[in-house]
Amino acid sequence: MQQDQRGYPVTTDDSTAVEELDRAFNAYVGFRTDAMAHLDAAIAADPGFALPRIIKGTLIAGLKKPELYPLASGELEAAKNCAAPVSQRESHYMAALEAALVDNVTAAVTHYEQIANDHPLDLFALRIAQSELFWIGEVAWMRDISERAAPRWNPDVSGYSSYLSIRAFGLEENGDYALAEKCGREAVDRNPADCWGAHAVAHVLIMQGRLLDGVGWLSELSTNWSAANHIVHHLWWHLALFHTEHGDYDSALELYDHRLRDLDSPLMQAIPDYYVDIQNDTALLQRLELRGVDIADRWQPIGDLAQTRVGNHASPFTSAHSALALAAAGRYQEADEMVKMMKAFVADDTGSLGPRYAIAVLPASEAAIAHRKQNYQQVIDIMMPARRNLWQMGGSHAQRDLFFQLLVDAAVKLKRGEILALLLDELGAIGFDHVAERSSYADAVAMTH
Ligand SMILES: [Fe+2]
Repeated sequence: MQQDQRGYPVTTDDSTAVEELDRAFNAYVGFRTDAMAHLDAAIAADPGFALPRIIKGTLIAGLKKPELYPLASGELEAAKNCAAPVSQRESHYMAALEAALVDNVTAAVTHYEQIANDHPLDLFALRIAQSELFWIGEVAWMRDISERAAPRWNPDVSGYSSYLSIRAFGLEENGDYALAEKCGREAVDRNPADCWGAHAVAHVLIMQGRLLDGVGWLSELSTNWSAANHIVHHLWWHLALFHTEHGDYDSALELYDHRLRDLDSPLMQAIPDYYVDIQNDTALLQRLELRGVDIADRWQPIGDLAQTRVGNHASPFTSAHSALALAAAGRYQEADEMVKMMKAFVADDTGSLGPRYAIAVLPASEAAIAHRKQNYQQVIDIMMPARRNLWQMGGSHAQRDLFFQLLVDAAVKLKRGEILALLLDELGAIGFDHVAERSSYADAVAMTH
């Protein structure tokens, strides 16, 4: 029996396996590309060590592609066949993977939550609980898990900056902007390459309407992101968002072409269909189009990616974006097919995602398709009753704003001032400040005065 980097027991006698597992965990919470390589090294060092196999399966399942679940399931089976008995913490990770493989996200999270409660320095448990809850919109639950661990963390514990960045994002999505910004900035002060801390502060800045602060913050930090994984595309997306809201569409489009969708980059070549990339790209193109920017033929490659997710129900938030992208690429038949498959999924699903598709993803998808067809009344009819449930598709306030913008745009097109007054008021309640200074809502604000 050995101990990991924070003193928690792990069921192996091989110190190299433990070191490699620690490196894998650090790579995961540090948003670097080498987590899987270190897991493979841990498995090679001790093939009878179950935990790295479980974590490898967990990371594969986390790619939100059910066609890869058999690979993850293979790791789970191999872990179960390891001779050594697993600890309680390790058995929770095993049970979480079993739940994840049937898309029972809330069940998986209860295991991560228990691990984090019993082992508050387990950064992997804290971070993956946050990630999984974020993608189903359960942000209060997400914050509570990271806040519960706070008393056990201090600057002398290794990985403190990563903890601060996790804490910052949990606080930010729950509207505690001051403490979120403090934690996020401290994380980046301690480790300038801390992408998640940079990201949490970017969220604070967009919610508070501090657009030029956001441009400066991310532009300055971007020199530190060379070892980052696909999170870097999302950070560039955030920078493009600040530019877009400030009305600098040329800079946003340049970032799209050279940073978000650079097909020659090693990251894009390694995983060309990463689900968050589909969200980033769809969201930016749609936002720019809403502002009247000609985005030329950029929809077609995104339509190709969306096409591969027509029957994929592992990521509610990505599904809504995929339906939007299919319609935007003029592939209405595929978009309709996607909606049809979502309805069949909703009727059959016994996991935790079906209800979220029913209450949030389906209306958002149908509204996005209707908007593309310029059927603005239908957008209003679908979205007005559904809009307060959209959080259940997951994603951040800043990301989900895309669907709110479609509704607002429909109301602008139909000159429905009374609806706009209501929606603009609601943006404040969601947590957005200085809405009138954002290009996305300038037309709506003008129409209500
Ligand atoms: Fe974000």
